[in-house]
Formats: sequence, structure tokens, C-alpha cells
Amino acid sequence: MSRFHDLEVTDIRKTTRDAVVVTLRPVNGAADHFDFVQGQYLTFRRDFDGEELRRSYSICSGMDDGVLQVGIKRVEGGAFSAWVNDELQVGEVLQAMPPMGRFHVPLDAAARGHYLGFAAGSGITPVLSIIRTTLRREPHASFTLVYANKGVNTIMFREELEDLKNAYLGRFNVIHVLGTDAQEIDLFTGRLTQGKCAELFRTGWVDVASADTAFICGPEPMMLDIAAALRDAGMADDRIRFELFASVQPGRLKQPPRAARVEATGKGTEITITLDGATRKVSADEGQSLLDTALANDIDAPFACRAGVCSTCRCRVIEGEVEMAVNHALEDYEVEKGYVLSCQSRPLTDRVRIDYDQ
Ligand code: FES
Repeated sequence: MSRFHDLEVTDIRKTTRDAVVVTLRPVNGAADHFDFVQGQYLTFRRDFDGEELRRSYSICSGMDDGVLQVGIKRVEGGAFSAWVNDELQVGEVLQAMPPMGRFHVPLDAAARGHYLGFAAGSGITPVLSIIRTTLRREPHASFTLVYANKGVNTIMFREELEDLKNAYLGRFNVIHVLGTDAQEIDLFTGRLTQGKCAELFRTGWVDVASADTAFICGPEPMMLDIAAALRDAGMADDRIRFELFASVQPGRLKQPPRAARVEATGKGTEITITLDGATRKVSADEGQSLLDTALANDIDAPFACRAGVCSTCRCRVIEGEVEMAVNHALEDYEVEKGYVLSCQSRPLTDRVRIDYDQ
């Protein structure tokens, strides 16, 4: 079963010097696969010199905009983002998995929600989708966005944010925090640290007390800083939502985890893998992750980031024990039920049985 479907590029527009908004249309029978929820992302694949790269980019359009758009910022040394920014043409067909991600909360047209968004750089992409959808679907909701960038020139979606402010007067407020460009209000210049957040809260620019949920997307240290400030201001953990993948460079797991208790010899570990209704028994090499074991045996296990962030590779351990090195994606209750990120998990016992279908 192919997990990837065809998307035709119908428009490419620069939003800053180093970022584009790509508009996509499902083709070749793919339309049913691309309904999305605000804040989700698409995982693309493409061959570069014979090597398949997979990269995930957030959807920036809202659920009611009638278009599917992703924002792609060039990252240094990033083959995929450079290719999109420099070479991709309208009319080309890309391959992507259906939308994924849980960076959202249910919306209720009758609610009078107040939401906070904190984004840095390209972290705005999923937050923009959330803002667009929420303001449209919750007519009484209000949204305050704190958006950190180096300078005015690197603000993605600057015009779109202004348009939203005008369209939703009194309901949508944006505070641009710029690292280097001086602004009228000193507090809005510099890095978005825990201290700066605390000051924004104390001075009333951001009203945490009335906020229902905060959405944060950006580099991990900044996200932790913002979350700490929100907690200090009284916000409960379950109201603080993170989206990490946009800030993590996909990479391979370099270090084997430090297993507290390794019963398996590693070599010859038997792994039984169920995927798409079919079950196969394979053997894992020493130190090999569950995902790599599956792929090495031509089992088309799903994956995207390989960094423990996106949860695309989630499976459930039915038998045996594994150790997960990194988990930025699964909730505690999922781990308790035996779910693991297969890109980050290695067997601890001689026999392991996993299921991707559950
Ligand atoms: Fe993204 Fe495993 S592939 S968490």
C-alpha cells in the first residue's frame, strides 16, 4: 500500500527572500487523502542523487480557505528546502503522505476562547493555519500572537498577518519581537526569552490569565523558555501545546541508547512486524532501530523525521521490551499502552513483536 500520493504544484510565491508558500492540488485520485486539520503537516519524499529524502512541512492554510498550502523556508545545507526555493516549478508533481500531526485543539463555534500563539521564524507556519481556522470557526474567539524574528525582512507571512488583523479587528493581535531591528517599544526588541515573556505577561501585552490554550512552535530552547514563563504565570501544562518538528533538523539517530538492562545479545534479535495486515519475522542487527530493521527487510514502514519528533513511525510493542532513546511526540498515556517511536527504539529482549496497524 503506497503511503504517498500525488500533489500538483499550482502556485509558488515568495513570502521572504528565503521562504516560499507552495500551493498544492491533489491529483491522480489523491483528493480523499488530503483533508486536514489546522496545525498539521505534510511529509514529502524525493530522490536526490539516488537517495530518498523525506521532509515534513506544516500546512499554513486554514481549514476553510479552500486551498492546501505549505510554507517552506530554506535551511542551510537543506537539500529539499533549497530545491523547493530554487528549482521547483508550477505544474510539477510532488509526493506526500496524508496530513499528520496533533498540534491542535477541537473548536467550538459557541465558545469564547482566547488563544495564545508563540512562533519563531518558520514556526509561524502551523500557527498561521491554527489562527486562520480558529478565528473563522469560533466567531467569538480571540487570538494573541507573539512572533519572533531576526528582523522585519525575515518575517514570514507579514502581509497575511496584517490582513488577518484587519479582517478580525479586535479579535486578533500580533506582537512582533525582533532580534535586531529596534522598535518603538523596547520590550519588543531582543530575543524571546523567559524573562521577556514574563515581562510581556506582567505588563499586560499578553493576558495569560484569560487564555485557554497556548500554541508554541520554534526552536526547542525558546519553546522551553516560553513554556516556563507560561507555567510561572499560572497556565497548566495540558494547555500548553508544542510543535517541535519545524525546528528540528531531521537526522539519523547516531548514538545507541544507554540500555539499563540489555537481555538481548543484539545480533540475531528476532522481530515480528505487522504492517498493513501482513506479519513478517525478521532479524535485527545489533544496535539497529526497529524502523531500520523493517526498512532493511523491505518492509515499507512509515517514517518522516527519524528524530523522534513527528510520530509517523509509531507502532505498538506487543511482546518483548524495547528502549526508546528520544520521544518528543508520544503522550504519556500512549507510552503506557506500549506505543513507541520505531525510529528511536531498539530491542532489549531477544524477541520483540511490534504492530504498526494498532
Ligand atoms: Fe518521526 Fe520516528 S520518524 S518520530
